[in-house]
Amino acid sequence: MNIPNHVAIILDGNGRWAKAKGMPRSYGHMKGCANLESICDDVKELGIKYLTVYAFSTENWKRSREEVEGLMKLFRSYLKRCLKIAERNRMRVRIIGNISAFDQDIQDSIHVLEDYSSQYDELYFQIALNYGSRDELVRGIRKLAADISDGKIAPSDIGEETLEGYLDTAGVPDPDLLIRTSGEMRLSNFLLWQMAYTEMYFTDVAWPDFHKKELVEAIEVYNGRDRRYGGIKEEASCSRQD
Ligand code: FPP
Repeated sequence: MNIPNHVAIILDGNGRWAKAKGMPRSYGHMKGCANLESICDDVKELGIKYLTVYAFSTENWKRSREEVEGLMKLFRSYLKRCLKIAERNRMRVRIIGNISAFDQDIQDSIHVLEDYSSQYDELYFQIALNYGSRDELVRGIRKLAADISDGKIAPSDIGEETLEGYLDTAGVPDPDLLIRTSGEMRLSNFLLWQMAYTEMYFTDVAWPDFHKKELVEAIEVYNGRDRRYGGIKEEASCSRQD
């Protein structure tokens, strides 16, 4: 099996999964959080080098106060527990997104986790928190504009790699495979620049039920895809060129 180098996942369906069981949405998020812990172990075992998950978008603040507060509580405990998960998997963790919107103690836990895990390099794990791709681009372009006005870079020197260097994901290769759980088929403002050539896999399985078996199935489908990046497939007819 050809293992993708970088897998991105939109963690969706905790709420519906819980509702179907007659439980509150917070129960779904709790189970989703536990599943995130075990998927890191699975990803490591499979030999995937980069994992990026979409856990909280710039739009998610619009949810009820109760749900947002519940998620913040979950992030608080997860960020602390993640020190152990990082150690176990020799995994470097990075948070992408605008973390300045979070309470100071959450920002502090993020810095502690990023600093502590910077010693590891067997798995790179990015967690998108208060992340939106358009927001990431705006923040990156503001920094680039500041460097232009400081004379550090000339507009004529700007290329694709330059812009990539100003994104939250700087230095991380683009995802090879995107998985979105729970039936929705859209990107929801996730890694728009980085996923220009990413293969997409959508499944009806809700995030709390998405385990190693489902991950392997997604990789098998990915293996069956024909990745040409605009080139002509060997032995393909002209009409199949895209
Ligand atoms: C989107 O849909 C999911 C979220 C807003 C939260 C995802 C959060 C987790 C998996 C928990 C923990 C993550 C970390 C990093 C600790 P939904 O799950 O609300 O479901 P719905 O579309 O069925 O309403």
